[in-house]
Amino acid sequence: MGVYKEPLYYEIAFSFIDAKKQVDLFERFIRKYSRIPVRRVLDIGCGPSLQLREIARRGYEAVGLDASPRMLKYLEAKAGEEGVRIETIRADMMDFRLKKKADFACAMMGTISYIRSNGEFLRHLDSVAASLRKGGLYLIEEFRLDWGSKKFFTPSTWTMKRDGIRVKTTYDYQLKDALKQTVVDFFRLDVDDHGRRGVFEDRTTTKLIFPQELVALIEHNGKFEFLGWFERDRMRKLTRANLDNITLLRRR
Ligand SMILES: C[S@@+](CC[C@H](N)C(=O)[O-])C[C@H]1O[C@@H](n2cnc3c(N)ncnc32)[C@H](O)[C@@H]1O
Repeated sequence: MGVYKEPLYYEIAFSFIDAKKQVDLFERFIRKYSRIPVRRVLDIGCGPSLQLREIARRGYEAVGLDASPRMLKYLEAKAGEEGVRIETIRADMMDFRLKKKADFACAMMGTISYIRSNGEFLRHLDSVAASLRKGGLYLIEEFRLDWGSKKFFTPSTWTMKRDGIRVKTTYDYQLKDALKQTVVDFFRLDVDDHGRRGVFEDRTTTKLIFPQELVALIEHNGKFEFLGWFERDRMRKLTRANLDNITLLRRR
């Protein structure tokens, strides 16, 4: 995937993230819903993971899993620069096992959208279940719950700048096949790096898992309790579908 070979530009594109606030929220969820103490945290589809860097700073064991070697190399370099320890694992989120289980897992910023079928989602749940201790939470950010809104099929674009690098991001979803519930995700970065211009883009076919289908798949899998959908920025249950959401599961 073109965009995920460019960790620095990806990080700049999403540099509006407030990792401290996000990790504060993780800790609130843990205090309220986890049945086990948390020492080891796994970030699935971690990318440059500002969150894991914050988690490691707070003294947790931090583990980042990603399919992109360049993302992992970048994360390792950043961890080195920032003086924190982060373990990295190159693996497919549909098929992995941690040697040492985590106590808390998360998948941030829509990483879960890269699942292409219900079968893959069930394999993903099996992989997370095998790598998470019983009673531990799995927090998923940005499940595409808002598939019924106009906004969902409206392209979004924004521009961020850092250290003389300008990155314009464009996201767009196009319906591909209503019967198969597939959409084409278009993700593009237009970069101006001190006058050097570059375009990095991905077009990926993924499958929408509708909200009630998601709950049914979790029940069918049987390894997690579904604790609910929450607002992304605070520990309050969602009252209507919104892309800014957290889906919270607990390992049975
Ligand atoms: C939307 S980015 C999210 C990155 C980061 N978690 C964040 O919050 O910014 C998705 C990440 O998932 C990774 N990814 C995509 N498909 C994957 C797969 N099948 N297995 C593991 N990682 C995958 C990409 O390389 C990328 O780093």
